[in-house]
Amino acid sequence: MLQILRAKDQTQFGQLGARLIADQIKAKAQSVLGLATGSTPIPLYRELVNLYRSGEVDFSQAHSVNLDEYVGLSPEHEQSYRYFMQTHLFDHINIRPERTHVPAGDCAAQDCGQYDQLIRDLGGIDMQVLGIGLNGHIGFNEPDDRFIPYTHRVTLTESTRRANARFFEDKIDLVPTAAVSMGICSIMHARRILLLCTGEAKARILYDALNGDITPRIPASILQAHRDVTVLADEAALSLF
Ligand code: PGA
Repeated sequence: MLQILRAKDQTQFGQLGARLIADQIKAKAQSVLGLATGSTPIPLYRELVNLYRSGEVDFSQAHSVNLDEYVGLSPEHEQSYRYFMQTHLFDHINIRPERTHVPAGDCAAQDCGQYDQLIRDLGGIDMQVLGIGLNGHIGFNEPDDRFIPYTHRVTLTESTRRANARFFEDKIDLVPTAAVSMGICSIMHARRILLLCTGEAKARILYDALNGDITPRIPASILQAHRDVTVLADEAALSLF
């Protein structure tokens, strides 16, 4: 089942998204949250911090697993996804540090399976937050000839590196060439999925992903086969719907 929530502005976008996550935690304090990085979820994390500060949500029993990490950036690097999560969310709420997980960017290919084992040991993901790339990627599952099921190392496409150069002084050469990402099965096993999308630039890919054929050329299209997806998007991103 696919539900679309239309936000009128960034503030409402953040509030609606944070509310969904807070409700998940209220329903199950030990929830395993699958979390995403990037510009899109920032208003949502900001609002989640506000909800925590006003005593409306308690993360003390929660766990988190992040989607991906760059290869070659240490957790202290300002553009690493571990750093992103610390500064945008974890440092401001009461989630226990040892219960937050981000794939290791230096994960050798043969060790990636440990991340999937960790997710299984936690009982699976209750709610997975996703962004969508301009090329339709989810996590760093880039367009390919096949869906890659589990956590793996991936070579980033030029389109993704160009899109992310804005975080690296606009220099594409500084953007890592590889990442470690949860795979499509890891994502699809989540009980609920919250797909976030904002901005006119993503209107076409969002529409195609949700209305076109299911194809590994548009990795997000696989979400059509999930039974519980909420799409939270702004007017601009939904302009073709
Ligand atoms: P963005 O990235 O939120 O920074 O646009 C989303 C993504 O690439 O998954």
